[in-house]
Amino acid sequence: MTASTAGTRLLGALDTEHLQLYYGGGWHDAADGATFNSYEPAVGKVWATVAEAGPEDVDRAVRAARQAFEGPWRKVLAPDRARVLLRIATALEKYQEDLAQIESRDNGKPIRETRAELANIVRYFEYFAGMCQNVLGETMPEAGPFFTYTRREPIGVVGAIIPWNSPLLMLSWKLCPALAGGNTIVLKPAEDTPVSALVFARILEEVDIPPGVVNILPGYGARAGDALVGHPEVDKIAFTGSTVTGKAIAAKASQSLKLVTFELGGKSPNIIFADANLDEAVKRSAYGIFSAAGQSCMAASRTLVQRSIKEAFLARFAEKARAIRVGDPLQTSTQMGAQTSLRQLNKIKEYVEIGANEGATVLTGGQSPQGSLADGFFFTPTILDNVDNRMRVAQEEIFGPVTTVITFEDEDEAIRIANDTQYGLAGAVWTRDVKRAHRVAAQIRAGTIWINNYRVVNHLMPFGGYKQSGYGRENGRQVMEHYTQLKSVWVDLQEDMPDWYA
Ligand code: NAI
Ligand code: MG
Repeated sequence: MTASTAGTRLLGALDTEHLQLYYGGGWHDAADGATFNSYEPAVGKVWATVAEAGPEDVDRAVRAARQAFEGPWRKVLAPDRARVLLRIATALEKYQEDLAQIESRDNGKPIRETRAELANIVRYFEYFAGMCQNVLGETMPEAGPFFTYTRREPIGVVGAIIPWNSPLLMLSWKLCPALAGGNTIVLKPAEDTPVSALVFARILEEVDIPPGVVNILPGYGARAGDALVGHPEVDKIAFTGSTVTGKAIAAKASQSLKLVTFELGGKSPNIIFADANLDEAVKRSAYGIFSAAGQSCMAASRTLVQRSIKEAFLARFAEKARAIRVGDPLQTSTQMGAQTSLRQLNKIKEYVEIGANEGATVLTGGQSPQGSLADGFFFTPTILDNVDNRMRVAQEEIFGPVTTVITFEDEDEAIRIANDTQYGLAGAVWTRDVKRAHRVAAQIRAGTIWINNYRVVNHLMPFGGYKQSGYGRENGRQVMEHYTQLKSVWVDLQEDMPDWYA
């Protein structure tokens, strides 16, 4: 599919000056009439005005979701739920170019990345369509005069709160298992990137799905997000975002003992041993930190290099970073787009300064490009050299195209540094020694380890964090444990039940 044949159908018809909330199968302004703006980060200007959900709207949407759950959606059998997901997959495929363009405009990511994401998202819906009929219970061996079995049942209304770095992908990671498990969902996109989720809701209108099953409520975290977490009729919160906000949500959700899953921050180690294939390590380490302009929970933000190859590796790594084409996200040739928000851009600049004050050296990058890109929220691919793992730039999530270079002498030291962090989301090990590869992979305390690669994820492999990177797992069949309740059913088989009180 190319932009010329398929693109702009949705984009052309989209009234970006007046996007409404989607709940109960219809479009609504906010109850109090509030709106907010979304920026096109590549040009630094407002491009969409969106209804801003408050507590009243959250309440209406949650009731709609509850009604759908107790009513029509409950009656949809698993094979028919599967067909709903397949119909969404087909519709997404049809509009993938439109969606990629909208995502690139709202988020700043280059079109080559959003196209790849959309292709990926179609796979998610196809996979979870199959999952609808594979959410299984068990029968137990006899341990008494009983037939015992378990059932996996829906939890109810899922409240999903997603970030701005990969809006549609994050939507899919939550919506697919929620629907596959028979739940309904109220999803709040991030205030920085509300548009693509609303366009997704439009696409849903082409798919026959009962009103209230999927509800999309753009708004701010402190208002709409907070109301969703506090709502008594929401049974589970699925959150992706910062560790700080995750802790606040955990505390609030604990008041009603809602089920929660969290996918939070990271400071992932990318460990390069002297015997690694340096060509491949350079290529993929660059992708690991600079894709998504570094705005990735699993970004390779700590580059751990064995001392004996440091100079050789860094020379090539810096050359690679300098050659990355930063520019207009809608151009196919662009390799890195803009940061999603000015707030984010300023945070990155501040961290580069903090690093310099701590004694790190800016090997390459470290500033915003000038000229035609000066109005957008751009930042150049940045390598901070001579970093000590105890520095703030090595411990705190920057969430931008900035990696920190830390050297190590041997395997033990590499593992010690890798694990010396509050986070545990991901990591990688580069070596040609198969024994070392698995030894190191086993010892890093993180939810995902790549051996001789970086930043590959798919619908099949569980993804989530150790330590303060979160709890629960997304993707794979394992995610269904977090989107279903487990019921144990006991069937008595005795003809004369003994009387305990006889
Ligand atoms: P955030 O975690 O505050 O925002 C993520 C989502 O949570 C948004 O939808 C937001 O509206 C919502 N939210 C915020 N406060 C809330 C509350 N009290 N109750 C309910 N929902 C709430 O992250 P933010 O401020 O956008 O970015 C700050 C930093 O967080 C980034 O610089 C980055 O370090 C980290 N981050 C990490 C992400 C990841 O994928 N691990 C994604 C986004 C941000
Ligand atoms: Mg935007």
